[in-house]
Order: sequence, then C-alpha cells, then structure tokens
Amino acid sequence: MSKPTVVLGISGFYHDAAAAIVCDGDIVAAAQEERFTRVKHDPGFPQLAIEYCLREAGVAPEDLDAVAFYEKPLTKFDRLLETYLSYAPAGFASFRQAMPVWLKQKLHLPRVMDRGLKGRYQGRYVFPEHHESHAASAFFPSPFEEAAILTIDGVGEWATAACGVGRGNRIELTQELRFPHSLGLLYSAFTYYTGFRVNSGEYKLMGLAPYGEPRYADVIFEKLIDLKADGSFRMDLSYFNYCQGLTMTSERFHQLFGGPPRQPESPVTDRDMDLAASIQVVTEEIILRMVRHLHRQTGMKNLCLAGGVALNCVANGRVLREGPFEDLWIQPAAGDAGGALGAALVVWHQLMGRERRPQPADSMKGALLGPAFSDDQIKAVLDGLGACYHYYDDDTMLDRVVALLGEEKVVGRLQGRMEFGPRALGSRSILGDARSTKMQSVMNLKIKFRESFRPFAPSVLQEYVSEYFEMAPGVESPYMLLVADVRPEKRVDGDARGAGLKGMALLKAKRSVVPAITHVDYSARVQTVERDRHATYHKLISRFRDATGCPVIINTSFNVRGEPIVCSPEDALNCFLNTGMDALVLEHFLLLKPEQPEGLLSNQEEYLKAFKLD
Ligand SMILES: [Fe+2]
Repeated sequence: MSKPTVVLGISGFYHDAAAAIVCDGDIVAAAQEERFTRVKHDPGFPQLAIEYCLREAGVAPEDLDAVAFYEKPLTKFDRLLETYLSYAPAGFASFRQAMPVWLKQKLHLPRVMDRGLKGRYQGRYVFPEHHESHAASAFFPSPFEEAAILTIDGVGEWATAACGVGRGNRIELTQELRFPHSLGLLYSAFTYYTGFRVNSGEYKLMGLAPYGEPRYADVIFEKLIDLKADGSFRMDLSYFNYCQGLTMTSERFHQLFGGPPRQPESPVTDRDMDLAASIQVVTEEIILRMVRHLHRQTGMKNLCLAGGVALNCVANGRVLREGPFEDLWIQPAAGDAGGALGAALVVWHQLMGRERRPQPADSMKGALLGPAFSDDQIKAVLDGLGACYHYYDDDTMLDRVVALLGEEKVVGRLQGRMEFGPRALGSRSILGDARSTKMQSVMNLKIKFRESFRPFAPSVLQEYVSEYFEMAPGVESPYMLLVADVRPEKRVDGDARGAGLKGMALLKAKRSVVPAITHVDYSARVQTVERDRHATYHKLISRFRDATGCPVIINTSFNVRGEPIVCSPEDALNCFLNTGMDALVLEHFLLLKPEQPEGLLSNQEEYLKAFKLD
C-alpha cells in the first residue's frame, strides 16, 4: 500500500486552539487543546492536540506532507496596527496588552510550529485566510456536491463575515464584511454588557433570550447599526470600545441602555433578559437577510454555515424554516477550533487539487474524532484509585443505564471517541430523564453548578423527531445546532406567558411532557440521533424508549461550569466523584456513587475552584 498524503491543520493563539489531521482526504482525527490541558477555550498553541492527532493517524512529524495554520498572522497583525494607529493614543492599553504575545510567538509562527513538531517536519507551512478556513470546514465535509457558503464570526484578519459558493473540490468566496463591523462582536458586546464572559458566555445570552421581551430591538436598529437589505451593516462605533479599549462597550452605550454593565454573578434583571431577547431578534434578522441575499445571488439549493455565529442554533432553526434554501449543513466545530480542520481541507482540495467525494450523511463521522479509551485502560485507572465498579456486557449495561435514568438518576457517560466541537453528542455526556420535573434544577445546581435559568437539550431518536418537535421527519440535527419548538400536543399547562408569568417565574410552569428539555418559550435545542452516526447512543435511547415509551432523553455536556468537557476516564471520574452525579458509565464499567469508598469523595469546593467561572 502506498503511503497516504497527510495534512495537519492547526488553529490557535486566539481562543479554542485545536488540531485536525486529514489522510488522503479522510478526516482521521480532530480535537480541541482545552480537552487535554483542562483549560477551557485554551488559547495557546495546540501541542497536545497535535500529538494526539499524529498518534491517532499513526504518523510522525516527518511523515506530514503539509501543515496549515488557519489564518494569516501577518494580515491580522496589519489590522491590529492599523486599528491602533487610527485610534492612537487611545488604544495604547489594549495595544500594550496584545503586543508581547505577537512579538514572541504570533509573528514567528513557523518557528513555533517547528518547535511543536520537534524540528522533525521539513515541509512547507500554508496559511489560508481565516474565513477561507471556516468556509472550507463548512463546505468540504458537507454532504453537498455544490452549495452556497456563509461564514460569520467576531473577526479573522479583516473579514467578519464572508460568503460564496462551493462546487466539487473548490470554494470561492466573493463578498465579505470587514472589521470593525461585525455581527460576532456586536453579539459579544451584549454578552459583555449583560455580565457574561465574551467568547464563552454568548451561549448563555442566547439561553436567556426566551425569558425576555425584545423591547430594545428598535433602538439597536436605529442607533447601533445601519442595516442594508443584503444583510451587510455598519456599526456606529461611538457606542463601542473594542477598537481602542479593553472593554466591549462605551459610556455612550451604557447611557443608551440605562446603566453600567451587569456585574458578573450578580442577579440577572428583567433588563438583561430583554437585552438578550433584543440582540437575538436583531441577530436573526441580520442572518436571514444575508441568507436571502446569498440565495438570490447564487440560486443554489443548499447552504453551508460556519464561524462562531453559526453556533447560534436559534437563528439556524429560523434559517432552515424560513430561509429560501432547501437544505442546510452546519460544521459542528463552527467556531475557531473548526478552522484547524478547514485549513487542512483547503490544502488537500484547493492546493493539492484532490478530488472530493461527498458522503450521503457528511464526512465528519458524527464529529466523533477525538480519543477513545479501552476497557483495559479504564480498569487500570479504576483499580489504581480503588474505585468500586461493575463490569457488564453491552446488553446488560443498556438495561442498567435505562433503569437508572427511569429512577431519575443522573448518569455520566464516556463511550467511544470524544466529540470535536463545543457540543457533547452522547460520548462525553451527562444524561437524565427528560420527563422528570425536577431534573432541570437538579442538573443545573447539583451537577453542573451553573445558573438555574440555563436550559437543557434533548437527544431524540431520528425516527421520532417530528412526533415531539416541529421538524419534518427527514430533517436532521445530528450536531445539536438547530432549535425547534416542542409540538403543541406535547405541551401542557397552557400558555404560561399568557397566564401572566414573566422572567424567571416562567421556569415554574411544567411546559410539556418532556419538561426538562423544554425551554420557557417551548423551544428545544434538538440533537437527532440516528443509527449510522451514533450507533451505541442510538441503542441506548431506543432501549429507554422500549422501557418507557419516550424516545427523548436529556443530554448535557460532561463537565461542571467552567470546566472543559471531559476527555479521559480520569477526567470523567474526577467530575463524577466531585458532583451530585449518581452513576458513571466508562465503556463497560458502571460506577454507582453510594458504593464508592469514602476516601475517594474529595472536596467538592476545591474541585470547583480549579475552574474559572465562565
Ligand atoms: Fe473565526
């Protein structure tokens, strides 16, 4: 057999460093650095992720045919300098903060990468553009022969959004929106203003939106942005501070919305909820305009999305339902981690001109591209610690887990390869019974130690998706990137909002027959599970349905607040032992909390302190 052509993709030095490896066009492995270093959104160089990818592919650095970094550092530096100069001396503080890492590392990337590859790689380094990497990650692994492509994020080099088309093994980006006008940064400005962390709290803001009323949407349209029919816009920069300062919003912004930003961890007010609802409405309007414009321009049937803003699954749900495109595919690692994969695919298809064969599902292998662990490895860890466990065959394990879920127990599950991207899809997940009325608060407060308003997502068997959710039978959401409403016949308690409940009080209504995964506006962030992509997970939910009649369970990522999703059996065990989790599945091993020796249950507070609040 001839030696495969191997391309390594790298993203890093901003947030969510990651590596991906592509062998003869096959996506063999991809993972975020945070999972190995245990530092959430690790912004450094993805040394451990690279080493993992090489190991998984069975290659050494000298076997690599090309290495691609997901953006052009010099062009990005150019943007930084130009922005600084046009605001000087106002931007000196942020300039001074950014400079050391640029001078030490970012401007010398080939040297840094040489070191990362132990000096054993002699080939060339390729630097596609940031949005080219996003676009490649959106189109090349998609199931489509041809498609329109839209990428939206905070900012790359200069571009903050880009669109174009993909055909066969080529992509062509034809239009872009440029810094400082950015939907990602606009959304992040509201994330900051409502007291959440930029680049990680955006998800919370989206989750908060259904509690509020969009009463500021008009003000945003009137004052903050000048939106055109094609979805492009200009921002009034006097309301923002990210070009020159260390904060996102300016004093003028605070005056406009009636006060200073919410202090992190202070109570969430009605104003915060209404701001969340407002920026969500604005975001959806901008995206829908961009999508309609792109459809008019390209006349294509299919759309591919990537970039951090493509993780806004509420907007994605609307694009699918209302947009003129017939079909939609979203890269599961839509943020910058996915840029590592996109960069590698740019090299393989665009540069090397290699053929592309779209797969009927897609080429992401269910996003199961990270490490897996054998029973032997797990047993060694458990025995080393003196943990108490049961070993079961596949079939018995399914029955045990289904029984535990039915008793309203919370079960952590590590099975198979770890997911690539921010969502857990059953391999590194915490599971619960979606029918339980207490599960949302138990999971938020005793397991994840996070804000009580945050919703949970359902995993539903693909075969039953349209029985529970307003999605057509064939529509897939395998990567949990679409929000859809729970069907009216599954709702209970009438209309809570109509009955006068407001804000957090909405949480008190039962809402549906699967209350734990039904948000206060009856929406749900759906993961459809089908046999081919997620076989063992499909079996588990099928068994749960056989026992209970319900094809829906709760799926939340296996971590506590601020912690990266678990990767190894050690990580999973630590999280299990230090939270209120009742049971833990590690491949064929089952651990029950009450059976664990006293000495293993260490100090919960100490454990939580290890992770910075997100
Ligand atoms: Fe990006």
